[in-house]
Amino acid sequence: MSWLNKYSIIFFDVLDSTDLEAKRMIKRGVRGNHVIVSAVQTRGKGRNGNFWHSPDGNLYFSIVFDHKNNLSNLSQLSLVTSLSCHEAMQYFLNDKELSLFPKLFKIKWPNDLLLNDKKFCGILLQTLPCMDVHEDKIINYLIIGVGMNLTNSPKNINYLTTSLKEEGIEHKYNDVFNKIMERFNENYKLWQAEGFSDIRSRWIQNTYNVGKKVFFDMKGKKNSGLFKDIDEDGQMVIELESGVLHKVTSCDVQVV
Ligand code: BTN
Repeated sequence: MSWLNKYSIIFFDVLDSTDLEAKRMIKRGVRGNHVIVSAVQTRGKGRNGNFWHSPDGNLYFSIVFDHKNNLSNLSQLSLVTSLSCHEAMQYFLNDKELSLFPKLFKIKWPNDLLLNDKKFCGILLQTLPCMDVHEDKIINYLIIGVGMNLTNSPKNINYLTTSLKEEGIEHKYNDVFNKIMERFNENYKLWQAEGFSDIRSRWIQNTYNVGKKVFFDMKGKKNSGLFKDIDEDGQMVIELESGVLHKVTSCDVQVV
């Protein structure tokens, strides 16, 4: 089934944030699967409460659906989403770029996309528990916000950024949006039917930081170790200097 048969698409010229609009819709009692897209966001939200630069020309959307799966699967779903955005990029490359695809495009745990080692896409997963009056029980709505720099990127932040256009990658807005949704729908179906194993191995093949030193917070303290693997739950497995393996569910990991 095409993703277009599963989701309704709602387009806006301007919104404060597609994630905030998704929350308002759910709180108003709107149910079902939706994708909210806005050409511009005035209060785009990034991870850790950061601002997400959202001028005209880039892609901003939130996928909203009733998450029937266990919430402990969210780490896996985060990787399903970053893998889908990553895979979608192959469709916009010329032959030369395609031969360089694994070098050009990488996924940085848990769900940033890098192009030439610079961030051009960020993903934010949130859940919103709400009462289903028909079934008289709490259901968890999932909001997956995707921001992708297509034509421009912010330069006044403390990490390197870029956009498809700045790296010379020809693309059309609608084609990028459609291809990401197509890959997400396919990967989500596969994940539901067969579990995480195939997604996990494709994700690991395309990651930027497996095998590298990473910095992370552990019990409120800064720590570092070697990023060894992604486990069966989608958690990052880090080898500490003591040799002990430590698992991290979600954090902003710095790589050196
Ligand atoms: C990150 O910090 O890396 C996550 C960025 C997520 C940005 C997207 S843009 C669409 C959706 N609406 C928002 O306000 N944020 C997400």
